[in-house]
Amino acid sequence: VTDDFSEASTNSDSPAGTAPRLDGGDFFLDGHCDGDASAMAAGDDPENVRWLNEGHVSGLEQNRSAIARWQENWRTGSSQRTWALREAVGGDLAGGCELRLEGSGIADFSYWIYPAYRGRGWAARALTMIMDLAFSEFGIARATVLIEPDNTASHRVAAAAGFAREGVLRSAFKFLGTRKDAVLYSRLPTDPAPR
Ligand SMILES: CC(C)(COP(=O)(O)OP(=O)(O)OC[C@H]1O[C@@H](n2cnc3c(N)ncnc32)[C@H](O)[C@@H]1OP(=O)(O)O)[C@@H](O)C(=O)NCCC(=O)NCCS
Repeated sequence: VTDDFSEASTNSDSPAGTAPRLDGGDFFLDGHCDGDASAMAAGDDPENVRWLNEGHVSGLEQNRSAIARWQENWRTGSSQRTWALREAVGGDLAGGCELRLEGSGIADFSYWIYPAYRGRGWAARALTMIMDLAFSEFGIARATVLIEPDNTASHRVAAAAGFAREGVLRSAFKFLGTRKDAVLYSRLPTDPAPR
């Protein structure tokens, strides 16, 4: 296991320093491009704002900066790796998935699907595909997700992706001035494959 993400490599055909492309049939995962900023803004609904963006609506400029940072992260081998999730037909941006290497072989995951593309089970499948890559090629020994207790859809995604619920982290983070609990999930490479 390496804690130096710049050492991580994949067998993907994608050019070095870019997100490895992963095919999921009706969707695929690759890196963000500059043109994604407006689709990100359009997809930034109250669910994303509430559960992911700490209550802040993202604007075009902020999205452009995020895309530039995500591209740079792939180039430099940063501990944070972000994929764009795209509908296979047409390639429209439908969401995203990110992993952050936390040290000691642990990777923490986030995922989001824009409203028009929800209800297809894509988050769990994308998460599983990226976890498989993280286990097999990035040397990850433990995948984690932290979910707010009330985010039911996200709990369902973690369960569908084979994560085990470990427990509640009390007062784990601050949201708009209030301390919040978070539920910790984990998955190990030796855990059963998701259903
Ligand atoms: C969480 C999220 C990615 C799931 O999107 P998705 O992959 O399209 O998931 P689905 O719509 O297929 O729903 C997954 C499950 O949750 C259930 N679900 C969806 N919305 C729900 C809701 N509001 N309340 C209760 N259950 C819900 C679905 O019925 C489905 O159940 P199943 O497991 O029995 O099939 C999406 O809702 C989202 O982007 N939310 C905002 C960002 C976010 O919360 N990210 C996670 C942060 S930890």
